[in-house]
Amino acid sequence: MLGPVILAASRSDRMRRLISAAPVTGPVVDRFIPGETVDDVLPIVQDLTDRGLEVTLDVVGEDITTPEQAAAARDAYLELVERLGDLELGTRAEMSVKLSLFGQALRGGHELALANVRPVVEAAAAIGTTVTLDAEDHTTLDSMFAIHEELRKDFPQTGCVIQAYLYRTEADARRLADSGSRVRLVKGAYKEPAEVAYQQRSETDKAYVRVLRILMEGEGYPMIGSHDPRLISIAQELARRASRKPDEYEFQMLYGIRSDEHLRLAAEGHRMRVYTAYGTDWYGYFMRRLAERPANLLFFGRSILTK
Ligand code: FDA
Repeated sequence: MLGPVILAASRSDRMRRLISAAPVTGPVVDRFIPGETVDDVLPIVQDLTDRGLEVTLDVVGEDITTPEQAAAARDAYLELVERLGDLELGTRAEMSVKLSLFGQALRGGHELALANVRPVVEAAAAIGTTVTLDAEDHTTLDSMFAIHEELRKDFPQTGCVIQAYLYRTEADARRLADSGSRVRLVKGAYKEPAEVAYQQRSETDKAYVRVLRILMEGEGYPMIGSHDPRLISIAQELARRASRKPDEYEFQMLYGIRSDEHLRLAAEGHRMRVYTAYGTDWYGYFMRRLAERPANLLFFGRSILTK
C-alpha cells in the first residue's frame, strides 16, 4: 500500500521542496546517490571497474521547467563524457539519460529533447561508449521510442529501456529485438493506471519472463535490469537455452542495492553493470527507490529521528 503513496509524493512539488531541503537526508540518500558532482563520482567509477564491474551513469534530474535547464543538463552530460574519456574505459562506463531532463515535457519538447540528447550520444560515440534512454511514465514512451529510432540511424548502439509492467511491452520487445539493439528490461518504477499496466507484482513478474524470452531469443543485446533473485536465475537459464555466450547479454543493478550480488555475478563471469546516479536533483530518483521497498522508509525515518 505504501509504494503508490510514495510514488504519488514523488510527483509533488511541495514534498520535493520539503524533503530536498531537509538537512537530515544525507546518509540515506547517499546509499543510492553516492555523489553530487563528476569529481565525486569518477573515483566510484574507477573503483567499480577495478573490481570487474561495469557502470552506467545517470545525472539525476527530471521534470525540468525551462529550456535553459534542459541545456544545462545536456552540458552536465557533455562534461561527464569528457571526463570519462580520460579514464579510457570504453563501454565499461556508459550513460543513462532521462529525456524529461532534456526538455521532453516542455513545449516542442520532442524536438528539444532530441536536439539536446544527440550531442551527448555523439560525444559518447567519440570516446567509444554508448547511451541508454531510460523509460519514464507511459505518456512519454512513444516520444522516447521515436527518439531512440532516430538516434539509432547514426548510432545503432544507442540503448533503450522497456518496462515489464506495461501491456504494450511484449510488442515493443518484438519490434526492438533486432540485430545490434541494446534493450534494458526492468519491472517499471512509476505509478501507472490499470488501463496500461499490471497492478499485481506477480503479473509483472510473469510478464518480465515473457518479455525476457523474446529478447533472449531475438538478435539484440538484452540487459537484465533487476535485483530479483528468481528473475536473475531465470535469465541465466533463458540465456543458456538461447545459446548466448556471457558477452551476449548483461545484468544491471542499481548502486547501493544488493552490492554483494553485483560482485558475485561478476565473479561468475557475467557482465554486470551498476547504474550509478549522481547530482543534486535527487528527489524523484530517491523517492522511487523508497517506493520499491517501503522498508527503506524506516531507515529514512530513523535517520531523521536520531539526527
Ligand atoms: P523487486 O522490486 O522485486 O526487488 C527484488 C529485491 O531487490 C528486493 O527483495 C530487495 O531485496 C531488492 N531491492 C529492490 N529494490 C530495492 C530498493 N529500492 N531498496 C532496497 N532493496 C531493493 N525503472 C523504470 O521505470 N525505468 C527505467 O529506466 C529504469 N531503469 C533501471 C535501471 C536498472 C539498472 C535497474 C536495476 C532498475 C531500473 N528501473 C527502472 C527500476 C525498476 O523498474 C524497478 O523498480 C527496480 O529495479 C525494482 O525491481 P526489481 O526488479 O529489482 O525487483
